[in-house]
Amino acid sequence: MRATSALDWFMDKTVVPGYSRLGPALRRAWWLDDPEPDALADRHVVVTGASSGLGAATVLGLARLGATVHLLGRDQGRLDACADDVRRQLASAGSPVPELVTSVCDVSDLDAVRVYATALAARVDALHGLVHVAGVLPPERQESAQGHELVYATHVLGPFLLTHLLRPLLRADGDARVVWVSSGGMYTRSLDASDPEAKEREWSGTDAYARTKRMQVALARMWADRMRTDPVAVHAMHPGWAATPGVTASLPRFARLTAPILRTPAQGADTIVWLTAAAPASAAAGCSGAFWSDRRPRATSYLPGQQDPPGERARLWETVADAVDADPR
Ligand SMILES: NC(=O)c1ccc[n+]([C@@H]2O[C@H](COP(=O)([O-])OP(=O)(O)OC[C@H]3O[C@@H](n4cnc5c(N)ncnc54)[C@H](OP(=O)(O)O)[C@@H]3O)[C@@H](O)[C@H]2O)c1
Repeated sequence: MRATSALDWFMDKTVVPGYSRLGPALRRAWWLDDPEPDALADRHVVVTGASSGLGAATVLGLARLGATVHLLGRDQGRLDACADDVRRQLASAGSPVPELVTSVCDVSDLDAVRVYATALAARVDALHGLVHVAGVLPPERQESAQGHELVYATHVLGPFLLTHLLRPLLRADGDARVVWVSSGGMYTRSLDASDPEAKEREWSGTDAYARTKRMQVALARMWADRMRTDPVAVHAMHPGWAATPGVTASLPRFARLTAPILRTPAQGADTIVWLTAAAPASAAAGCSGAFWSDRRPRATSYLPGQQDPPGERARLWETVADAVDADPR
């Protein structure tokens, strides 16, 4: 056990082995058990960014465990194509095909998030999982429907508001999970809640991406603290490096250079599905607020000076709550 822990730690620290397809290939020899095959039967799970890449792989993984999955994205055609593909894959494997519900909801648009949350509450009594997958890395600065910087609105504002609005449904499940899909790129930035919209500094896509991915990890921690008395566990995770349409489009050079070692979308999505479905007695429930990769909690900082500066989390929470006009307790 000690030898495998040391190897796991070494792979994580040296990045390439841990983030590449070697990570799950080796770690599955010692990682925690798969969920039961029907772990999510009769459970509802919302997945944002469900029409592509890791989101689509997450939908397949959750549906395979019996969940009714609610797929959110910005384009009805892409969502329907993803749902059809999942139905086809399950049927051809002889597996039952649960209900898949597609909804157009741009999570960067706070009005759309409010409309969706109201509609969902009218349709379901309880929600087992909320998985924040939607992600963007645009080539130039763009703004959301409400005029917020797009990367911040997509990774932080929309997911924060959706979590707040769906909290009563999550509580009603009795054993719910919220999973924030962050990125190893967050290690390149420390938490900084000043100027989250990049109004006073030069904007770059990779900078906005890494900053907001760091914010997601801090927010997951803070939601976990606030939901301590709810029967809801909150997790952040990073998927390693997976071959997805998003990586090919946003980071073509990286995708080309790393092609032979990239994970499949299913390998990238494995820990997302596992965190959503793992039994409450498992490590997942005892570690609400942790940052995971390959079914293990990981450090949130490796270098000196990367720890969240004192007061910065509270400042972030206030800034975000103010921007979405909500004050969750
Ligand atoms: N792939 C990797 O190696 C990797 C590594 C680290 C972290 N991640 C994270 O994993 C997540 C998924 O990435 P991916 O590689 O699978 O990318 P992808 O193939 O580009 O998928 C991104 C998904 O997000 C959706 N989306 C984007 N903006 C949205 C919005 N405003 N509202 C609703 N949906 C939205 C897209 O759907 P539509 O365009 O159809 O709306 C698409 O389904 C991202 O958060 C990313 O940061 C990925």
